Order: sequence, then structure tokens, then C-alpha cells
Amino acid sequence: MTATQTDTTKQYIYIVQASLEPAKCKIGKTNDLERHLKEYNHMTGKSKDNSYQYLFTCEVKNMTQVENAIKEKFSHLREEKSTEIYFYNLTLFKGYVELIKAHRSFIKEIFIKQDDKTQIVKIIKKTTPSLEERGMSPKDVLQKAQKINNDEFYTRYEDVEKELAMYNKKIWKDKVVFCNCDDAVDDDEKNTSAFSLYFIQNFHKLELKKLICTHYGGVVDLFNQGTKGYIFTKDGFREIKTFPKGYDGSFDHPLSLKILKEKADIVCTNPPFSRAIDYWKVTINSGKKFLIISNISNAINTAFIHYFKDNKVWAGHNRIDYFLNPKRQLVDASGHWYTNIPIKNRPKYKHLKIVPLKDIPSEYKKFDDSKTLLVDHCYIPSDYKKPFAVSARPILNGLLEKGYEIVQEKRYTPYVNGEECFARVLVQKK
Ligand SMILES: C[S@@+](CC[C@H](N)C(=O)[O-])C[C@H]1O[C@@H](n2cnc3c(N)ncnc32)[C@H](O)[C@@H]1O
Repeated sequence: MTATQTDTTKQYIYIVQASLEPAKCKIGKTNDLERHLKEYNHMTGKSKDNSYQYLFTCEVKNMTQVENAIKEKFSHLREEKSTEIYFYNLTLFKGYVELIKAHRSFIKEIFIKQDDKTQIVKIIKKTTPSLEERGMSPKDVLQKAQKINNDEFYTRYEDVEKELAMYNKKIWKDKVVFCNCDDAVDDDEKNTSAFSLYFIQNFHKLELKKLICTHYGGVVDLFNQGTKGYIFTKDGFREIKTFPKGYDGSFDHPLSLKILKEKADIVCTNPPFSRAIDYWKVTINSGKKFLIISNISNAINTAFIHYFKDNKVWAGHNRIDYFLNPKRQLVDASGHWYTNIPIKNRPKYKHLKIVPLKDIPSEYKKFDDSKTLLVDHCYIPSDYKKPFAVSARPILNGLLEKGYEIVQEKRYTPYVNGEECFARVLVQKK
């Protein structure tokens, strides 16, 4: 049987889409697939430019039961004002089909659209070569990381998933999550933000109250979608259609700030690297919880050290080694998660080697030209009373939660025998 041939005594579930609305689909039930499709196309006045086509059809024993199961599981993906319009992208489509096929009423698939949009992620580098293989020193790496100001890197779904899995699920319960650099949920996977997709897919599991995604439509527009915004609640989703004049979706536009202040509980995104200083200021000063990605060396960067010193931010759990460029190619660039959500028993404490100074191997401790102690390789002296200098790594591994504090807001640049060494931050045992 084709997508539309039907036996009218039977019961069917279908997913249908209009060619002019690729970010949406309709899911419903019928006794007559063929007639139903004709009705849809009659409504639009079928033309070459806009016609409805089935994406999936199947036969079921009880179509009302299946339809109700879809309505329940995907309530937040249903358009608020319509009973049968659902959000569409390939991942979500697979989720709809999976649920239908797993339902006890499912009899057999009749038609499924061929997966012609599967993205092939081209791996530029399969494994991370060692620094030696790259002919780089740790100093080069840090300098490279600091220079990254290209905003058009986007986050892989697995990196979002890996970090968020580390937090107690309860932190999301009844919360409004604001992804303020990400709305872009699109029919094309390439244009879909991993943050939006993660929260949409886990909306019920995390027991979210609301998800608000806004997207920047300014000069550099990664997803090429213009200014956009979406709101998801358990009663359905809504596209924000009317913006105040001049709204560009920027995280620091008055409307975005109003949403941040008045609506959001937790902000979660990978903001533009080039605007990191402003983004941190706006987000941290809002007093809201946040979980964001930023440069891996922020803990030794003068613009950010004071936040770590004042305990307004600390490292999340994971570093990020790859991002995707707009062509979906893996690009190796370093980032790290940062948050103000409490982290108990950080697994990375085990990387800190807190031992008496005399037990630190000589290759990992030295005094610089101004007699300041420099320690490397996550060795930390347990019995040293004066300030000493460390790289970002021990801070990311939770040193400040282990009885040490930052004592200088300016980054520390050591010189050994007159030669500049890589930048650090000055810490001291409390
Ligand atoms: C590093 S990318 C990450 C995109 C997405 N959050 C992700 O994780 O895949 C940062 C994004 O912020 C966008 N952007 C640039 N300036 C912005 C602004 N002022 N407000 C909001 N987003 C902005 C860029 O176009 C880019 O798409």
C-alpha cells in the first residue's frame, strides 16, 4: 500500500506536513488516509508551491488511544492554539514515530518518508593529537584559546547531554529555562541549537515549567533565521511573533533583559565568545542560576578572575574540546562549562594533588624571578603559607572549594630568568 491507499474500515495515524511550513507537522487520526490528504490539500488549494504530504502513516487498532498518547507525551510540542500542529525537526519526528510504533495499538507501518536529511558530520580531526604532535606548548594552547573570538561555533548535543547529566534532576523542576542565544529549532538539524533541542526533548523528564528560546538576528546570525523566539510550556508551544521595533534578539537588548529578570530561573547556553565579558556581567548580575559555556582560560583572565574570587561562579564539570562550525564540521577548540549551581563532591577533586611542598616533584615547582612559587600539573602545596601561582586547571578542578582562595584579581604573568612564562592566577591557603 502507498502512503495514501486506505481501507476505510481501518484506523490510521498519520504525520503530515505542508511544504511551506517545514518547522511544523500535523499529527492525527483518520479512517481514510487518501481522503484526508485530499482535504488538507483542498484547504490550501493545492499548488506546486504549497502542498501537504504524508511523512508517516500506519495502521493501528485504536487510533484515539494512540492520538491521546502523543498528545500527552508531546504536550509541550503542540501548538498552543491548535490541536494537531506539532513542532517538527528530524529528531523530534523520529521521537513521534518511535512512540507510535511502540504503542500497543500499533499494527503496521504503511509509509515513512526517507531520511534524506541525515547530516553527515565530517570529522576534521578524529582524535586529539598530543601537544607535542601539534608542535605546541601549553602556553601556545592558552594563547590560542584566548584569541578565539569567532562566535560561529556551536555546541554538540552530546556535550550538552554529558554536562546536564551531572546535576540533580530536581534543579529543573518547575523552573523557567532561558536559552538566550539559541532559539533556532528548525526543520533542518543543521540549524537546530543543541540547547533548545535538549530541553525540548527532556521537557517532561526535567519537569520544566517553561522553556524560552530567543535567537539573535543581528549582523552575525549563525542559524540564519533572523530574530526569533519560542516559548514552550506543558500546554503547548508558541512562537513569539511580535517583537518591539528594533528588537534583534541580543541577550542585552532591554526585552531580553526583561525576560531574564522577570521570567527566567535558569539561563543555559553557549554565548558568543566575542561578547563573553558582557554576557558574564549581565548574567551574573541578574542573580539567576546559570550553566554556560565559555573560554577554558577564564579563571586566569583578568576580566573574569574577580567572579571566581568572589565565589560568584565556579567551573561546571566538563571541558569541551570540539564545537561544530556552520558546515557541521568538527572544529577543535577548547571551552568549559561554568555555573553558579552548587556542585557537591566534584569528581575532579581527585585530579588535585595536595601534598607538602617538599613532596612536589622538582619539575613541577619553581620560584620565578620575583620569588613567587609556581606549581604545575595540579600539584598544590598543603603547607605553604604565602601566595603561589597556578594555571586555570586546578581552579577548574575545584581548588577554591578545598580551602584555597584567589588573592589577586589581575592575572599573574611570571618571568623566569627574564623570560615570560604562561599566565596564571595567584592563590593562597586560607
Ligand atoms: C558560540 S555560538 C553558540 C550558539 C548556540 N548557543 C550553541 O551552543 O550552539 C554563539 C551564538 O550567539 C550568537 N550571538 C552573537 N551575538 C549575540 C548577541 N548579542 N546576543 C545573542 N546571541 C548572539 C551568534 O550568532 C552565535 O550563533
